[in-house]
Amino acid sequence: MLDPQSVLISPALPDPWPRFEHPLKLGVLASGRGSNLEAIAASIQRGELHAQIQVVIYNNPQAAVAERADRLGLPKVLLNHRHYPSRESLDQDIIQTIQAHGADWVIMAGWMRRVTQVLIEAFPGQVLNIHPSLLPSFPGIHAVEQALAAGVKLSGCTVHQVELQVDSGPILIQAVVPVLPEDTPDTLQARIQAQEHRIYPAAIALAASHSST
Ligand code: GAR
Repeated sequence: MLDPQSVLISPALPDPWPRFEHPLKLGVLASGRGSNLEAIAASIQRGELHAQIQVVIYNNPQAAVAERADRLGLPKVLLNHRHYPSRESLDQDIIQTIQAHGADWVIMAGWMRRVTQVLIEAFPGQVLNIHPSLLPSFPGIHAVEQALAAGVKLSGCTVHQVELQVDSGPILIQAVVPVLPEDTPDTLQARIQAQEHRIYPAAIALAASHSST
């Protein structure tokens, strides 16, 4: 019998959490609600993830993440993708904004834009993304709906280092959750998101531990 609460995370969450020579300097990119931004901020606040959020970049003037950044007291910058002639030119501005705020980790937390080689090469190995599926299954914007339509019995979320292909690149950590017969996109998404909030801070610590060894 499947326990609806069962969760598998691999590798395990850090215990103890690693400390670095200096706190990691994060630039967070978000397009939507910003619940992952908040989870990362909360982990930092609890003294787990040894980091500081230097700036929150968002691309949609209506995104709820803007209010969340204000509430968390984090600097925010709107870079509206509609005002850029190309993906590369948006990425150039992202790089400048991240660097101007003293950050060198790019944390895509619900960033619903494709990134280019320009951004990836500016911060080698330090552009991370979270996705609501067990990659490489169901990349793209309808991952939860596609998992339900495919009838998978397990789903979850993945944090990975970003490569050019959408939702691809070396996997850092995954969490697995059950898919229940009565699930709707909303209930499955909520179950997955609860785990996103646990694994994203851990994945950032993991990636930084790798790059500092
Ligand atoms: C998250 O579920 C994240 O996995 C997804 O967007 C949501 C953002 O939620 N990202 C992707 O689908 C990337 N392909 P949030 O704004 O509440 O953090």
